[in-house]
Parts: sequence; structure tokens; C-alpha cells
Amino acid sequence: MILPAPPSPIHLLDLAAEHAALQPALDEAMREVLDAAAFIQGPAVGQFAAELGEYLGGAHIVPCANGTDALTLALMSLELPAGAEIIIPAFTYVATLEAAALLGLRPVLVDVRPDTFNIDPAAVEAALTPRTGAIVAVHLFGQCADLEALRSISTRHGVALIEDNAQAIGATFQFQSGEIAFAGAVGEIGTTSFFPSKNLGGLGDGGALLTRDAVRAALLRQLANHGQSRKYHHQYIGLNSRLDTLQAALLRVKLRQLPANTAARQAVAARYDAALAAVPGIGIPARDRRSSHVFHQYTIQVLEEASRRDELQLFLQKCGVPTMIYYPLPVHAQPAYAYLGYRAGQFPVAERLCGAVLSLPIHPLLTVEQQEYIIGHVGAFFGN
Ligand SMILES: Cc1ncc(COP(=O)(O)O)c(C=O)c1O
Repeated sequence: MILPAPPSPIHLLDLAAEHAALQPALDEAMREVLDAAAFIQGPAVGQFAAELGEYLGGAHIVPCANGTDALTLALMSLELPAGAEIIIPAFTYVATLEAAALLGLRPVLVDVRPDTFNIDPAAVEAALTPRTGAIVAVHLFGQCADLEALRSISTRHGVALIEDNAQAIGATFQFQSGEIAFAGAVGEIGTTSFFPSKNLGGLGDGGALLTRDAVRAALLRQLANHGQSRKYHHQYIGLNSRLDTLQAALLRVKLRQLPANTAARQAVAARYDAALAAVPGIGIPARDRRSSHVFHQYTIQVLEEASRRDELQLFLQKCGVPTMIYYPLPVHAQPAYAYLGYRAGQFPVAERLCGAVLSLPIHPLLTVEQQEYIIGHVGAFFGN
């Protein structure tokens, strides 16, 4: 059955409404920063880092300017030789590669798993060479990559594991031993982004690194601040990559909301799962039972030819349901990375996913009525 019109306008995410609910606290946070006028490295930066570290099980948090810089700083801190190989999933946001490429390191792409869309540990193992400098795992769409296998590969081969946790902040992974760890806290370094649309989003750019090693945290802190040990004393070639005090103050407010927002996203995902599992022609997101899923995205696969995915997107758009394709082109097909010399067909899973995936609206304020409308239209498209 096709409903005539959405019960209320449906958004992919509704930051204006989310922020309206937090308005007094956000206003107060902004006012405090304006009054104190300590816009760089003001007290809110340290306070936010401490609170986020506590939320993530006691890790050291090094705030920085954005998630791309976090990846860059993570790789810089490994002090790898020029041309060292960095193993990266072929299905990811381009920033994961950008950092390695900018540092003169060589991105080595490997395919992802068809079920979870996350990096395939068997492919990682096959790609290792004596020149491998690091493995970058991306916890795509909110669910941990196979940290059991990846940690084992990292330990056995003495190769650093970096976790790009821009999309899975707060997710946890349970190891066979029973140990439960936060995403980002398993490898040498975790990185994250506070881009406004992220699960923990600021009101502008922001990012952070996470590590359990106090010495590495000190190095990262230094690298993010012009490589200086103290003002005007530079031990390393660093970056100017600091989290603005204003963003830190606003993120403190947003962090308090994160557990409730994550639960709301999970409830939306559970309703999608229940309703869409039976719709022929689509695959719902596979759950890895070892990982919690914080549903940065709810991404279905259209199991028919790629043109059907595009038709579904157009149909939903006409019905007032916005959707997004993360990602329409695999990174090795991007002109900027042609120099790596990869050819079409080398990463069949990533290539197929680019033609099959569609992310449906998921955010903490999506109402049950709106969701029923979305579900009804997805079903109607497939003749349900
Ligand atoms: C997986 C992944 N890595 C890295 C980034 C880069 O973060 P930022 O936009 O804060 O630089 C993003 C988000 O944009 C991302 O989704």
C-alpha cells in the first residue's frame, strides 16, 4: 500500500531539531567560551577529552581538527619509512586513503566482506609484505570490523593496527576470551571524526585520536600542535590540528546525549530489520554477533541489478524519502588514486556494493510513523 504523503517531512538526519532540544545547554556552552575568550586550547578541550576517554573505557583522547587529520597524525606517529605500505579496505570513505597518500605512504587496498562490508582479514593477511607499515581497519556504518582476526594478524606480524572509528563511536567488540573492548581502543591507535553528521557530531569540523598508551598519546598531542614540546620548541614536523575550544564545549553537551541517541538509532534499526527482512530483493545489514552496532547508517543492499537500486532511490525520492549511496564509486576507481594502478574487477565485493547499497534515513528523532511510511514504500517498490 502506498501512503499519500509523508506524515511529516523526512530527513536523512535532523540536526536542527536535535539541536533545538539542546538549545539552552548549547547556548550556555557557547556563552562561556565567548566570555573566557580562550579559543585555542581552552579548558573545554581537556574537559571534553577526559569525558570522552571515560565514556570509552578510560582511553587517552587526543583531540584534533578533524577525522582526516586524526588518520594523518596516527600514521605520522608510527614514523614509517617513505613508501611503506598501508593496508586499507577498498570500500571506505576517501579520507582513509588520503592520509596515507599525503604522507608519501603507499595505500594497498584489500576487499571487504560481502556480509558486513568491513575489511576482510583473509585479504589483509594475503596483502602483507615486508614493507607493510600498518593496517587501517574502518568500522563501517557503525559496526566493528573483525577485531579478533585483525588483532591477531597485527600481533603475529608486528604490524600496527589503526582503527578508523569515524562511524562507530561507542560500539563494542567481544573477543573469544570474553574481553569486551570499545571500537578504537583495540589497535595501537583509534581515530574518529566529529563531522556534524557523525553519531557524535560537533557544530563544525572536529576529530580525535584514542590510544591506551600514555607515551603515544603525548607524541600525538605534540604532533597535532606543530610538533612542539613547549611553545616555540619543535621536536617534530607536526600539524596545526587542534580542536577549537568552541567545538569542544559544544561536544561536551552532545556527548551527554550520545548514549540515548545510540539507543534511539538501534531502536530504529531494529524496526527496519523486523519489517524489511521479509522484503524480497533486498538484504538488510548483517550483524556480527561479537560487535554492537551503533548504526551510523542503516544500509540495505538491493540484490538485483544496480539499475534497480537507482530506481528504488528515485522512487523513494519522489515519495519524499531521502536516501544516500555510501559510496557510489570504490576508492580505486577515483581518478585521484589511478596512480596506484588498480583495475576494475580487482575488488569484486567493493565494486558490487557500490552498485547495490542504499542508506535509509536513520536518526534519533525519526518517528515510528515516518519509519512506517519509509518501510511501506520500500515494500511497495518490490511489490510487497
Ligand atoms: C570512515 C571515515 N574516515 C574518515 C573520515 C574523515 O573525517 P573528517 O570529515 O572529520 O575529516 C570520515 C568522515 O567524514 C569517515 O566516514
